[in-house]
Amino acid sequence: MHPLCAALIDGLSLTGDVPGDAVALLTAHGRAETAAHCANVADEASRLAARFGANGRQAEIAGWLHDISAVIPAAQRLDYARQWRLEILPEEAAAPMLLHQRQSAVLAAKVFGVTDPAILSAIGCHTTLKAAPSALDKIVFLADKIAWDGAGEPPYQDALLAAVEASLDEACWCYLDYLWSRRAALFAVHPWFVAAYHELSDHLERRITP
Ligand SMILES: [Fe+2]
Ligand SMILES: [Fe+2]
Repeated sequence: MHPLCAALIDGLSLTGDVPGDAVALLTAHGRAETAAHCANVADEASRLAARFGANGRQAEIAGWLHDISAVIPAAQRLDYARQWRLEILPEEAAAPMLLHQRQSAVLAAKVFGVTDPAILSAIGCHTTLKAAPSALDKIVFLADKIAWDGAGEPPYQDALLAAVEASLDEACWCYLDYLWSRRAALFAVHPWFVAAYHELSDHLERRITP
């Protein structure tokens, strides 16, 4: 195990039970609120998987681990990425929090022993989505937005809940188009998000918001 990963679990006895281990690790790093959010995302992802015929176990595990990299101190995200030899996009260098999706996938693999590429993919693009996403990618992306962990009610919530009744793609479009409309206010516009948005606009034959 990479020394940085070993240091993160130092003093913990992980059991192999993903929910219990995720809660233990996050709590040990003072991130109990993230553990609660992950529980909500796991529940919502399971519900969406049942609704759309995806694998509920994969959705649940991805939900539990999608934000597990919250254990990395914010000021050290770039340093961890360099030491793990992750490719760092310019947008991620500008807004290192954008690295957290792929850093969660690294920890899911190296600390939790997840080998399923479908689960690792869904964790690794849960913030931005990406081009040619799988159903599981879309489910975890949407579950993270529906199980919002910020203050108050997000402005897209009613529209998103209505869209998810129609299809995963309609729901993804709802959120991506909302984010695109306020891209000027973002610290950085991640190219995976841009690719997902343009691809879905073509697929659904929707106009891109100017
Ligand atoms: Fe996240
Ligand atoms: Fe999240």
